[in-house]
Amino acid sequence: MTEVLGGSFTDRLSAEGSLVLASGGTLVEVHVADSPVDPSATLDPVCPAVARSRAVLLSSEAPPGPGRAGPVVTREFAERLRHCAVAYTEAELDSITHAMPMLESVLGDDSPLAGWALIFRDHFVENSVGFLRAVERCGMPPEWIFALSKGDKTAHRDRVHATFLRRGYSSGVLDNSVINRTATVAELEEARASGAAVDRFIHRAHQSGRRVLVVDDGGLLAQGLGSNHLVEEAVDAALELTVSGLKRIEGLPGGVTIPVFNMARSALKATIGYNEIADSCLRRVRVLLAGQKVIGRSVLCVGFGTLGRRLALGLRALGCSVAVVDTDIITLIRAAEEGFATHRSLAAALERDQPFLIAGSTGDRVVSPDTLPLLPDGVFLAGFATKDFSLFTDQPHGLPQVALPGVGVRYRLPGDREVTLLGDGRSLNLFEYEGIPNRGYDLYRAGTLLAAEEMCRRCEELEPGVHTTIVDELVGRSGLYERYYARYLASGERADV
Ligand SMILES: NC(=O)c1ccc[n+]([C@@H]2O[C@H](COP(=O)([O-])OP(=O)(O)OC[C@H]3O[C@@H](n4cnc5c(N)ncnc54)[C@H](O)[C@@H]3O)[C@@H](O)[C@H]2O)c1
Repeated sequence: MTEVLGGSFTDRLSAEGSLVLASGGTLVEVHVADSPVDPSATLDPVCPAVARSRAVLLSSEAPPGPGRAGPVVTREFAERLRHCAVAYTEAELDSITHAMPMLESVLGDDSPLAGWALIFRDHFVENSVGFLRAVERCGMPPEWIFALSKGDKTAHRDRVHATFLRRGYSSGVLDNSVINRTATVAELEEARASGAAVDRFIHRAHQSGRRVLVVDDGGLLAQGLGSNHLVEEAVDAALELTVSGLKRIEGLPGGVTIPVFNMARSALKATIGYNEIADSCLRRVRVLLAGQKVIGRSVLCVGFGTLGRRLALGLRALGCSVAVVDTDIITLIRAAEEGFATHRSLAAALERDQPFLIAGSTGDRVVSPDTLPLLPDGVFLAGFATKDFSLFTDQPHGLPQVALPGVGVRYRLPGDREVTLLGDGRSLNLFEYEGIPNRGYDLYRAGTLLAAEEMCRRCEELEPGVHTTIVDELVGRSGLYERYYARYLASGERADV
């Protein structure tokens, strides 16, 4: 017997009904019944709550045994059924749209996006669903949208992927580990298949007279022009979303050959997006450390940049005693003048103090074989950029380890010490979590849509290379900040529901 849970079986099978399917000599009976509502299905409650169903599969296939693989047909059928059922229902999609009013406010007629094709590489979270639905409403046909996940284990990635497929987009994974060259054989194979599919997509778009825009974190561009050549076909323009992506494409041999808008360093992301990102990072740490005492304890923040400073301030506001490490002297002076204990290196910090938590937000390798012996026994490591604690995840280090499902991995170090890497070593706020609330990222997504339209309009006149000021000017002129302020922040304004 196999059980499958889903939100919309009733679309396909009669409610409280049953069905018999045959494949070869196998008979599978499907019984559908109502199921208790899953409280974690979407970020916002959907009202009325989405009815959920439970399907029980009874199969004539024999269980696994000597010389028998087990119920292969039934398992495959269950997987396909689950895949259909997990896509967001229309009511859930509407609740995501409702939570992104800024995005809604920038939709207009005659969008230049209608004549383009889009490759969107980002996290598979609800606000990505909201963004791509808005792109559709700009007139881009679903078949000209290709969504690629960066491979993080976001909480609802299966639902997002299934939704994209059901809407008619292409959807796949181009894992960051491939771009960082830390991929397993399986991840590399999956990335090659995705790369080939992206190539075909770009080729088809060009043959149909459509230009191709990439909204990305540097992964695709770096892969297309770099040494791995997962993607061979050239795209026409790009919006760059992340700092690490910018670093990657700026370091490309031969430079960038298409116009790129820098969203990562836009005022929009730095002043508004980062507050929400830092908040999601801190919330994730608190949940994963639910059994720990946090308030008042000693914490080390490595990296005091745009993200790290906000993390340090947030932890201090909790009552933690926060010290800071940064390799940039001006940044270190700033941290010291804001009242933090500061150190030039991790080694110097650990000689002075024994933090119970080390947060990394540098985008650089923080722990090295030299500093490994200095880590305090029992310390928790929270990485918000994948590279920070990559010593533990990248290469064989021979350290005995124990998986802590849903929490992280505990490593035993020489000298009878242990450390716990929270999550899977990637950005912790995206580990089995949605990260940022839809309303918190809405403004950034709205600005991204405006930037995408501007890029489509001006692509031919813009010089190849990274453009930073255009996005700031565009968003500044759009009235988005005024609407955002009026909706959420101005005193006396109505509470949002
Ligand atoms: N998890 C997320 O959702 C998320 C969101 C935004 C950014 N990020 C990632 O976080 C990282 C930082 O982003 P940012 O915008 O704050 O960048 P930033 O450049 O503003 O800050 C990085 C800081 O780290 C310092 N630094 C670099 N190498 C160091 C080292 N080895 N030791 C100590 N300090 C070091 C730099 O001097 C700088 O002050 C990037 O890799 C970015 O991609 C993650």
